[in-house]
Amino acid sequence: MVTPDKRLILNKYPLKELFVEITDKCNLLCKHCSTEAGPTGEQQLNFKKIVEIIDEAYNLGVRYFCISGGEPLLHPDVFEMIEYAKKRGMKKVTLYSCGYITGNLQKNKTLLERLASSKLDRIIFSLHSSDPMIHDQITGIKGSYEFAIKAIQYAVTKKMKVEVHCVPMSYNFKTIPSLLRLCEKLGVEQLSLLRLVKQGRCMDNPDLVMSKRQLNVFREIINKLKNGNYKTRLRLGAPFNCLFLDRYTKCTAALCKILISADGSLFPCEAFKTSARPAPNIYKMSLFEYWSKDPLLWKLREDRQKITKACKDCESLEKCRGGCPGQRYLIDKNFTKKDPLCYWKVNGVEKVV
Ligand SMILES: C[S@@+](CC[C@H](N)C(=O)[O-])C[C@H]1O[C@@H](n2cnc3c(N)ncnc32)[C@H](O)[C@@H]1O
Ligand code: SF4
Ligand code: SF4
Repeated sequence: MVTPDKRLILNKYPLKELFVEITDKCNLLCKHCSTEAGPTGEQQLNFKKIVEIIDEAYNLGVRYFCISGGEPLLHPDVFEMIEYAKKRGMKKVTLYSCGYITGNLQKNKTLLERLASSKLDRIIFSLHSSDPMIHDQITGIKGSYEFAIKAIQYAVTKKMKVEVHCVPMSYNFKTIPSLLRLCEKLGVEQLSLLRLVKQGRCMDNPDLVMSKRQLNVFREIINKLKNGNYKTRLRLGAPFNCLFLDRYTKCTAALCKILISADGSLFPCEAFKTSARPAPNIYKMSLFEYWSKDPLLWKLREDRQKITKACKDCESLEKCRGGCPGQRYLIDKNFTKKDPLCYWKVNGVEKVV
């Protein structure tokens, strides 16, 4: 039951999306992994807890349920979770996967077969490059590219709604155009580029971060691609707003979504997974308590109302809206510094910070 008190907060900040990392186990060891997942991962949310979370989320108005990890297909109850979420009324249930579930192609196919016959609405595979060597170098596992491609091909054949995610980094950004063409060839609907967050295992691999010079080339690449005519849609999310690529989306952290990690920690979105620790925990509070009382969520909401000091004289602020709060929080935990990716225009000329 949503009481009138709750309704007031939910009217202003309607919680719509829930991202849950159900396990931190994974058979890959990606150099950039924000979850620091790996074969020895032991954290997982059990089915009973997921049911409680889905029930409360549904009552609060969530209709978009996203299952991530680690590798979620390694969780023994993942199919029951999908089924329960759909039965409970979630309109869109999405699952993230690296395509390398186990090191056995036949076992993977069996898992994907089960997924294809489930009520899952969308599957998002991570493909880090069109070049097998670069993909495997990033994942740390030789042969993982072949598994990812086979998984994508299988899902497309089964008419699943398939998307690909890629994180542009120093190793792979030059292969983005060929990755887009590969996605087209594979029949992928959308290629989304995620912005690298310096957290988790990425902190041990600082060479992944693009230099200013590389960032300029990346920007040129995207500027060329965005006017091309591809069957696969190229999407860049809100974290790239401050690159001024003329595609602006709204950051929704603290406005309509929550992320829960495998140990139960609660975050405004994936970009806060390291910097906002120690975090509130779903084993100690309800989703609504977090949504209505968490100081970081309120700071994020209030920060959007104010023009932060670092950006207040910038003529482009209306477009980028100050960049990605998660990236700013990484710098000083106070949102007072500029987004480190900030490009801004002075007298119409682009400047790099
Ligand atoms: C954490 S993974 C979990 C799901 C699955 N194992 C996979 O790799 O798709 C979800 C997505 O986050 C991306 N990711 C991981 N670490 C990241 C980081 N430090 N910054 C940005 N994205 C990251 C991955 O590349 C992947 O596309
Ligand atoms: S990014 Fe995904 S595939 Fe890579 S180690 Fe992390 S959880 Fe595993
Ligand atoms: S804080 Fe950054 S990563 Fe998180 S939703 Fe906003 S723009 Fe996206």
